[in-house]
Amino acid sequence: MLKIVLLGPPGSGKGTQSEKLVAEYGVPQISTGDLLRNAVANGTELGNKAKAAMDAGELVSDDIVVGMIRERLEEPDTENGFILDGFPRSLSQAEALDELLERLGRPLQAVVHVKVDQEEIVQRLLERGRADDNEDTIRNRLKVFEDSTAPLVAYYEERGLLSAVSGMGEVDEIYARIKNALPAEAKG
Ligand code: AP5
Repeated sequence: MLKIVLLGPPGSGKGTQSEKLVAEYGVPQISTGDLLRNAVANGTELGNKAKAAMDAGELVSDDIVVGMIRERLEEPDTENGFILDGFPRSLSQAEALDELLERLGRPLQAVVHVKVDQEEIVQRLLERGRADDNEDTIRNRLKVFEDSTAPLVAYYEERGLLSAVSGMGEVDEIYARIKNALPAEAKG
C-alpha cells in the first residue's frame, strides 16, 4: 500500500533504495529516468525528443514526462501503490501529480527527501559512469536539482508529507532510516 515519492539529488540513491522497497512491499518503482532511457534506447519519437535534454542534464519537457507518468499510473499494477523515483522534479510536475492522483483517488502518503553531500554524489556517479555521468553533466544535474527540484521540499513540507533522511553511509543503514520515516499507514 506504499504510495510515496523519493526525492533527492542525482546519485542520492533513489534507484538503489527503490529496489529494496519494491522487494519488501511489492509495489512498482516508477522511475522517469528509466522510462526515458528506455524510450531513447528504443528510438521512439518521444525518446528522440528527450535525448538532448538528458545528455545535457537538463529537465525533459513537462508534456513528455507528465504524459509518461499519467500513462504509467493508469496501469493496473499501480492500484495498490507505487514508488515514484525522479518524479516530480519541479513545482509544475508536483501540481500535475496532485491532480492526477486526486482523479485516481490515490493520494500520496509520504515524500522522503534523501540528502547526500555534493562531493559524495560526484564521486558515486563518476564511479558508475552512465552516459550522463561525466563531470560537466553531473554538475549541471546538481544545479538543475537546486534550481527546480529543491523548491519541492517546501511544497511537500507545507502539505505535511515531507521527511528528510541522510543518504550518507551504507545502503542498508539508509534503508532503515527511510523505513523509519514512513508513516504507519504506508507500511501496513
Ligand atoms: P534519473 O535517471 O532520474 O537520474 P538522477 O536523478 O540524476 O538520479 P540517478 O539515477 O543518477 O541517481 P539515484 O538517486 O537514482 O541514485 P542510484 O541509486 O542510481 O534522470 C536522468 C535524466 O532524465 C535527468 O537528468 C533528466 O534529463 C531526465 N529526467 C528524469 N526524470 C525527469 C523528470 N521528472 N522531469 C524531467 N526530466 C527528467 O545511485 C547512484 C550510484 O551510487 C550507483 O552507482 C549506486 O550503486 C551508488 N550508490 C547508491 N547508494 C550508495 C551508498 N549508500 N553508498 C555508495 N554508493 C551508493
